[in-house]
Amino acid sequence: MPENILIAIAWPYSNAEIHVGNITGSHLPGDIVARYHRLKGNNVLMVSGTDAHGTPVVLAADKEGKPVEEVYKKYHESFLEVFKGYGITYDLFTSTHTENHFKVSQSMFLALQKNGYLFKQFSKQWFSPSANKFLPDRYVEGTCYICGFEGARSDQCDNCGNVLEPEKLINPRAKTGDGALELRDTEHFYLDLSKLEPDVKKFLKERAPHMRETVLGESLGKIESEGLKPRSITRDLDWGVPVPVEGWTEAGKRIYVWFEAVIGYLSAPIEWAQISGRNDAWRDWWTNPKAKQYHFIGKDNIFFHTSQWPAELMGAGSAFMEIFAGEPVPLTLPYDVPANQFMNLEGQKISGSRNWAVWGLDALSRYDADALRYYLTINMPENKDSDWDWNEFVARNNNELVATWGNLANRVLSFCFRTWDGRVPDVDLKALRPSDLSLLSAIDEGFESVGSELEAVHLRAALQEALRLASLVNQYLDQTAPWTTIKQNKAEAALTIYTALKAIDSLKILFAPFLPFSSQKLHEFFGYETPLFGEQFTEDVSDSLGTHKVLLYRPSALSGGSSNPKDVSRPAVEAWKPSELKPGAKLNEPKPLFKKLEEKIVEEERAKLGR
Ligand code: MF3
Ligand code: ZN
Repeated sequence: MPENILIAIAWPYSNAEIHVGNITGSHLPGDIVARYHRLKGNNVLMVSGTDAHGTPVVLAADKEGKPVEEVYKKYHESFLEVFKGYGITYDLFTSTHTENHFKVSQSMFLALQKNGYLFKQFSKQWFSPSANKFLPDRYVEGTCYICGFEGARSDQCDNCGNVLEPEKLINPRAKTGDGALELRDTEHFYLDLSKLEPDVKKFLKERAPHMRETVLGESLGKIESEGLKPRSITRDLDWGVPVPVEGWTEAGKRIYVWFEAVIGYLSAPIEWAQISGRNDAWRDWWTNPKAKQYHFIGKDNIFFHTSQWPAELMGAGSAFMEIFAGEPVPLTLPYDVPANQFMNLEGQKISGSRNWAVWGLDALSRYDADALRYYLTINMPENKDSDWDWNEFVARNNNELVATWGNLANRVLSFCFRTWDGRVPDVDLKALRPSDLSLLSAIDEGFESVGSELEAVHLRAALQEALRLASLVNQYLDQTAPWTTIKQNKAEAALTIYTALKAIDSLKILFAPFLPFSSQKLHEFFGYETPLFGEQFTEDVSDSLGTHKVLLYRPSALSGGSSNPKDVSRPAVEAWKPSELKPGAKLNEPKPLFKKLEEKIVEEERAKLGR
């Protein structure tokens, strides 16, 4: 039975471009796991979108003197390009600024309210009489009441590192220059997480077997030490999801971005189902308790995904579905949250404002997607922070990707193409020798060994295992030396080349989740016609808020689906299995899969940093 797998990836904020740290942190690991499950014939849905709301994008728009909507769209559209370029195969990459997301978020809010998990409370907030509005904490600066630093943000001091109580700030002033400020009372809704603490604890303990030590430790540790406290879920801001309570939107209040962005994991599948023309299809992942939901995120988002989001789901219970669909059914809870640590760059923290970053689109203009994907996987910050080092990028590209895998495929395919007239040697399979069979069975076991690392989301180990298997083929060729044998005994050489080709044809699948572009090329050199994966494309979707562009994925018959874009029934075809290469099959002319990189790029790239 195919499994229903939801790959849910952290929604990037619409106030900064995507860099390699974001890609290796969540989008790429999610894509690798999604592609693996598609090859297995599982029913995969991979979603995310732009986190359009919140104060940072409003602040960015104010700075640029542009409407927020324009700034959000600019980033959103560049995200679509990045993900298409890197082959991050979202079934749907949408945005939180859609009518559907508003409706789903508001239904969740109302469900929590109905079940008694929301309350209202007044607090004090800085108000600008001249601008006639409350200012978000990040807009207010002043003198730190703990260390005396003059440039403290009202909610946090970057000098002494303390979290501040905004109302105690000395000499507060608006970053936007909005005149003198005064403290005023403001009313907000709170999510009573303390009431849900026992449920969250139980959820975490039940999920413990698949959770990374780093994730579980942080989540349970926080609950043990501080407990879960109520959190405000509305803000005084005019950009965001309207509060579904009379008068609140008119009073300039919106739902807090961290309350609603996580709801995207539910709203995006609903939107995807509508776009695909099968409105109920999202239920395969959401009202099916056996569905497995994975959340790919960075370590800074752990609390929201392991505590707040499950709390929202458990607190809303079946009331969400009652409000949204008129039928009380509970929603599925997350299965695993394989959060990654951070990737640094040349020994320092990545920083957009200092241009200490390798930007997603920029890197793609000089390097192939698979070369970048390779380095970002082998160096993924799974259990501890990792470092992007240009020297290491070149070395690993040349010594591992090119030398161990690319050259192997190219050498065997070109030799065969030249020597056997563009065909796989037409050998008698019964003539294969023990050494041939033992190589092939070692490679076949890779479907189990690489597969189980992928299931456990140990992606570095999975890729290393695939690479180890490629070296076995290299050793086999060193021992059998078909390029020499051929001079005396063409039949012997044919057996060797057939064996190596069949091993490479299997390795192509083992590498495919990591290196989809080169695996597809190889697949074509072998003469196969049905593509390994589907296609990515963008489309405009209109609703009452306007038009937004989305990134979609049209599955291929070999990875869980038919080639009809509107047919989302996705019949299970198992492609994650050893090659059945036919002797005598016709090949297409091979070309090198990867490029060797020159040493001089290291200095060129380093010279760009920090400028
Ligand atoms: N925008 C947040 C960030 O980049 C992540 C949001 S994840 C979501 O850190 F699930 F809340 F959307
Ligand atoms: Zn301070």
